[in-house]
Amino acid sequence: MLSRLSPQAPDKIIGLMQAFRADPRPDKIDLGVGVYRDAEGRTPVMRAVKAAEERLWRLQDSKGYVGIEGDPAFLHAIGDLTLGEAVPPDRVAAVATPGGTGAVRLALDLVRLARPDARVFIPDPSWPNHAAIAGFLGLEQADYRYYDAQSRGVDAPGMLADLERTGPGDVVILHACCHNPTGADLATGDWAAVAEVLNRTGALPLVDLAYLGFGNGVEADAAGLRLLARTLPEMLVAVSGSKTFGLYRERAGAILALTETAATVRGNLSNLNRQTYAFPPDHGARVVTDILTDAALRRDWQHELDAMRDRVQRLRRDLADSLRAKSGSDRFCHLAEQRGMFSLLGATPEQVSTLRERHGVYVVGDGRMNLAGLTEALIPRVSEALLDIGL
Ligand code: LMR
Repeated sequence: MLSRLSPQAPDKIIGLMQAFRADPRPDKIDLGVGVYRDAEGRTPVMRAVKAAEERLWRLQDSKGYVGIEGDPAFLHAIGDLTLGEAVPPDRVAAVATPGGTGAVRLALDLVRLARPDARVFIPDPSWPNHAAIAGFLGLEQADYRYYDAQSRGVDAPGMLADLERTGPGDVVILHACCHNPTGADLATGDWAAVAEVLNRTGALPLVDLAYLGFGNGVEADAAGLRLLARTLPEMLVAVSGSKTFGLYRERAGAILALTETAATVRGNLSNLNRQTYAFPPDHGARVVTDILTDAALRRDWQHELDAMRDRVQRLRRDLADSLRAKSGSDRFCHLAEQRGMFSLLGATPEQVSTLRERHGVYVVGDGRMNLAGLTEALIPRVSEALLDIGL
């Protein structure tokens, strides 16, 4: 049986992580996978997470199963954080999932149950796993225009024109904030225009919320998806706790489905959980719940998240300044203007390999750089390397 399997190439981000680990050079620089690093180059455990874990260790007296949907207190807290007052709670069906990827997978599983012939509209470009999961599930895919490489911003007219082609049997994947891989986000007016188009065509938005707090702050980063939630009859939101709470390996996530048929949808999501992995992981979810429901922990988490965002924005500015000074040109100013962890360098695959081979600087093959992986000390070396490969 197993010898019939054919070799599989890893996803480009996972392949890059493997190549980085295998590189023996001590001064190699990882600007690939999207994780935040501090000035010492470490991905820290957030203070509020440590405090919540310490409390959990003291007070938790059982590791018995939670419900198949996850802990209701977690789902309530994450729904509140994400949707605020945008919709009444009885319109939301939520279940916990293993990370944001688990939520995207469950969302598309749910779509396939409802409409096996659904088309999934994916922004061009997008996180590679969106297309990979839709493809694995056998769902038809279509790209919609998103990024204008010339202006290095969102191609809003192109996007809206492409979304006009959607219909009631379609799903549209949207990035809530900190677009991965471009760092170019929709403006408030664009969200309103997307809501108007989807309301008219009847397509279902699936909003991927993986970087809440890393763009312009928690409330601002959730504003676009809340606008959709207030306007549209149905929506799916895939929420990740990986970056927002620094809980990457704990796999804290949830899917929120906004619908008039919440009880039925919840039942379907519960069954999907059951058949996929039974009970969703609880540790990270419980930590998130403790943080969001304890005023002091929540304040501290918010401060630390704000500081992380400010630092990434400062690193963006410092890198853009350093490149301006060394190149005498403004062609890198988009790095300072974009938001979140990623920007596209506009590098060819050959330039990306030269960057890796000659300078030990790892970015994804499409030229995506994780600016949250930089440190202040690395900026001169990275900017020289970028200019050396001809950017
Ligand atoms: C990324 O895009 O680097 C992150 O979302 C991590 C991942 O799972 O790909």
